[in-house]
Amino acid sequence: MKPEEIERMRDEALAAFAAAGDLDALQEAKVAHTGGTSPLALANREIGALPPHAKAAAGKLVGQARGAVNKALAGRQAELEAERDARVLVEEAVDVTLPYDRVPAGARHPLTTLSERIEDVFVAMGYEVAEGPEVEAEWFNFDALNIGPDHPARGEADTFFVRTASDSGSGGSGTESGVVLRTHTSPVQIRSLLERELPVYVICPGRVYRTDELDATHTPVFHQVELLAVDEGLTMADLKGTLDHMVQSLFGAGMKTRLRPNFFPFTEPSAEMDMLCYVCKGESVGNPDRPCRTCSSEGWIELGGCGMVNPKVLAACGVDPEKYSGFAFGFGIERMLMFRHNVEDMRDMVEGDVRFTRPFGMEI
Ligand code: PHE
Repeated sequence: MKPEEIERMRDEALAAFAAAGDLDALQEAKVAHTGGTSPLALANREIGALPPHAKAAAGKLVGQARGAVNKALAGRQAELEAERDARVLVEEAVDVTLPYDRVPAGARHPLTTLSERIEDVFVAMGYEVAEGPEVEAEWFNFDALNIGPDHPARGEADTFFVRTASDSGSGGSGTESGVVLRTHTSPVQIRSLLERELPVYVICPGRVYRTDELDATHTPVFHQVELLAVDEGLTMADLKGTLDHMVQSLFGAGMKTRLRPNFFPFTEPSAEMDMLCYVCKGESVGNPDRPCRTCSSEGWIELGGCGMVNPKVLAACGVDPEKYSGFAFGFGIERMLMFRHNVEDMRDMVEGDVRFTRPFGMEI
């Protein structure tokens, strides 16, 4: 074992490490010059076969060479790692002051998008969107709609009073109107008839209030859409055709509605309106093999109330009931959102958690 040879092996290793330009190249050089089959490893193994007197000198020679190689390897390794870290810091630097173009898309609340969809159906037919205040005079919310002073809906059991008539200084004479949070969007009917030229075709979406506890199927603040058409010669057939058109636009071809007699002070005659179940199309009725969750196998889904505008309401707004007639309907948007999208708990709609809203997607 010649010292020059060992030195050559050492020097080749040192040169290879110095020449390695990156950590991958250094890894290759490391395997070649310190691995199990590298010249120095083989030389080290040969020491065992040397005669005893030569072992010490050879061991020292090879050991020193290997020590120098390992030291050079560790040094170059540290150098290249430092270079890499410095480069990564520059290359992967994030300029936090740059304008950010990937703001996650938000989502509009499904109540808003559904309400706008309903509005669009009627705007396409020439209706105008009408709005009114949520804090409303009792006269608009009740009296003008033929809901007399003794009507149960006027009681504090259903209505949030902002100011009662007696608070307003009239001493309860009954001529002064109190102020309530509107319990339905029907007062917008009155405001529209008073403010607009005839004929009137309006759709009134908005927030309404009733003294219900918040639970899975009630909320003290909810949304309604109300429609009012007043013109010459309108009949219940126009109401029925309008309702059918609405459910077909919202739920697809083949949909229809049905009316069941009911009573509202502001319409005469009045009806409850149902729509055909858009999932089973009525086929689950009397068919235990095909139960329908959406309509509980009833075949119909209750939508809301409707009817021909009571002539007393027209008269209260200065419209001649001999010349004009009208129809109106109203329904709750939360309820429609529940059955249209299988939302099981109304509280999800009011909590404002974006995880509820996002799956409905963006609808503009
Ligand atoms: N205003 C009624 C309600 O809140 C709904 C309705 C509107 C009924 C128009 C008939 C006509 O329940």
